[in-house]
Amino acid sequence: MKLPHTSLEGKHLPVMIDEVIKICNPKKGGNFMDCTFGAGGYSTELLKFEETKVVALDRDNYVNEFANKLKDNFKTRFIFHNKKFSKLDLVSTNKFDAVIFDLGLSSIQLDDLTRGFSFKSKSELNMSMGQTELSAKKVINTYSGKDLKDIIKIFGEEDEASKISKNIVKERTKKNIKTTDELVKIIKNSKKKNYKKINESTKTFQAIRIFVNKEVSELIEGIIKATKVLKPGGRLIVVSFHSIEDKIIKFFFKNFSKNRSRSNKYLPENNDKLSLFDDYKNKTIKASSDEVKRNPRSRSAKLRVAIRSADTFIDPEELRNKFKHLTDLEKRIA
Ligand SMILES: C[S@@+](CC[C@H](N)C(=O)[O-])C[C@H]1O[C@@H](n2cnc3c(N)ncnc32)[C@H](O)[C@@H]1O
Repeated sequence: MKLPHTSLEGKHLPVMIDEVIKICNPKKGGNFMDCTFGAGGYSTELLKFEETKVVALDRDNYVNEFANKLKDNFKTRFIFHNKKFSKLDLVSTNKFDAVIFDLGLSSIQLDDLTRGFSFKSKSELNMSMGQTELSAKKVINTYSGKDLKDIIKIFGEEDEASKISKNIVKERTKKNIKTTDELVKIIKNSKKKNYKKINESTKTFQAIRIFVNKEVSELIEGIIKATKVLKPGGRLIVVSFHSIEDKIIKFFFKNFSKNRSRSNKYLPENNDKLSLFDDYKNKTIKASSDEVKRNPRSRSAKLRVAIRSADTFIDPEELRNKFKHLTDLEKRIA
């Protein structure tokens, strides 16, 4: 069944596409993995170069119509898998010149008012990007007040999580909270501060979405597995949109590169085997002011890139340990 979209149907402007393609350097061809296919912006651009091959993944099946078009046009050079990127190592035995992640939601998902991602909609609280066991409705109506507070505080970085979660519990004892506008009303009534920069529901919606889709566990497993499938010299490219994602990526790139600080308490001294990346410059690339004007969504985007070293893959257990408090939170059940 085709879901109704808004006027933005079919329009997702790929963020920092010129920068991503430049880093991929596809002029002489190469094998590329696009882990967050979406509307296929990056894949389409890479396939314009004749000698390239692209393996793409996306957990959501709204993207099938875009993937099918590319399959028709590039029969021998494009393969698509409707899978989560935490399983990216299972889809191909090839080694890649670049593996790309463009995290979060596409504009098409956000603007599809039936899916419950947008606090501007009045749809059922769902928020699944596909292949989840949970919905936002289940979380909001069945998780304990303490779990809701932790989820909203930690994944939404929301200062008023305590009040919001108490009010959710209070309201749901009267009747089930079913729709996004019902949740928005509870959040508005809970907040003291008058926020001007962002909508008062942004942080809570972000938190529930991260929890429903287990986005932290997905990201950690995805970037670890990407280092397994990259060629030596291959690029791991990640475009992220909020600080939790960026902290994870930065920690991984900095602490598993050849020039990492030896005094880092999370790594054993002189353990040369864990240099998954060559020297890392700890630099973020941001969208140009022109792009931000054209595509406001790119304002919060940060692009980081690390180069795979020639060292054998060894599982970076320290990355998992460092963010275990977040992945444990994602494992909570009602
Ligand atoms: C920002 S969009 C990507 C847009 C894409 N770069 C383009 O140019 O059209 C993010 C996409 O990643 C997908 N996604 C998010 N988390 C995922 C995961 N863990 N595994 C696979 N796909 C995921 C979403 O469903 C969404 O379609």
